[in-house]
Amino acid sequence: MSRRKVTVVGAGNVGATAAQRIVEKQLADVVLIDIVEGLPQGKALDMMQSAATEGFDTHIHGTNDYADTANSDVVVITAGIARKPGMSRDDLIATNAKIVGSVTEQIVKYSPNCVIVVVSNPLDAMTYLAWKTSGFDSNRVIGMAGVLDSSRYAMFIAEALKGSIKDVRAMVLGGHGDTMVPVPEYTTVNGIQIDQLLPVSKIEEINERTKHGGAEIVKHLKTGSAYYAPSASAVAMVEAILLDSKRILPSCCYLNGEYGIDGVYVGVPASLGANGVEAVHEIKLRENSSSDLKSSAEEVRKLCEQVGALV
Ligand code: NAI
Ligand code: 2OP
Repeated sequence: MSRRKVTVVGAGNVGATAAQRIVEKQLADVVLIDIVEGLPQGKALDMMQSAATEGFDTHIHGTNDYADTANSDVVVITAGIARKPGMSRDDLIATNAKIVGSVTEQIVKYSPNCVIVVVSNPLDAMTYLAWKTSGFDSNRVIGMAGVLDSSRYAMFIAEALKGSIKDVRAMVLGGHGDTMVPVPEYTTVNGIQIDQLLPVSKIEEINERTKHGGAEIVKHLKTGSAYYAPSASAVAMVEAILLDSKRILPSCCYLNGEYGIDGVYVGVPASLGANGVEAVHEIKLRENSSSDLKSSAEEVRKLCEQVGALV
């Protein structure tokens, strides 16, 4: 049986690190593609030269030619510009819409049966744009944000408890921006609801830090944004799709009336498997989480309308 094939578009910080994680986990062979000549080739060759030491048999190929991406099972789009201090994710919209639109056309031409995982920002709008451009059913175009935001939430909780992160299950829904919705009622430590372990004031402080988790890193880095946790999060989604594991992960999905939201992409709990989004789970939320999710979706809708006009 031949190995599975994943294309990663964008050989920058997130793309290259995602590619590295995929080959090191031996999930699939990887094609790493970028618009800059030599960048994906150099990084792919460098990664291949770690195979003997790391002990992986999977292969990574760097290219600028979409023909090499043909028949990919999963395509991860990380192409675009990242934010700099003082920029919001939404400031990236005009530049990244052009990039994500043209990349999606090429992907679909060569891999008509793939599942697309979008990472480029502003995430919810770029996922919507990729879906519109692709002509795919919406289950085959998914955005990565909730896994990352939940992972940040989990880290801050473990830190506050001085406990093991292994026991923390955290949930963040909504758009990948300042309106994201940390959901403490579904955030637990080995099954124990977080409000039994931390005072409300501490939970609220952590919620705020989570919402600005990306900006906190941009402020430190000054020249770019986070990529270790983002690449790990994208690869968790790729793994669930390739292994058809049906993991329930917070994913940016197209909603058809679930949660009272219609016609936009926004973060909700979803089962991921070979067909991409196999189910969107409409869970009971507390009143404030439910209304925050709806408000977040309305913010996202404005950006979706902006990019929708470009398709
Ligand atoms: P980066 O600047 O390191 O890499 C971006 C790469 O895209 C560059 O190598 C660039 O040459 C390439 N590129 C630009 N136009 C292209 C095109 N037309 N075709 C192919 N490649 C092209 O940026 P980084 O840090 O890797 O971030 C990538 C994107 O992911 C940004 O938009 C960033 O905001 C977003 N991001 C989203 C996250 C999320 O949670 N959804 C988390 C982290 C980053
Ligand atoms: C992040 O949350 C920039 O969206 C990216 O780190």
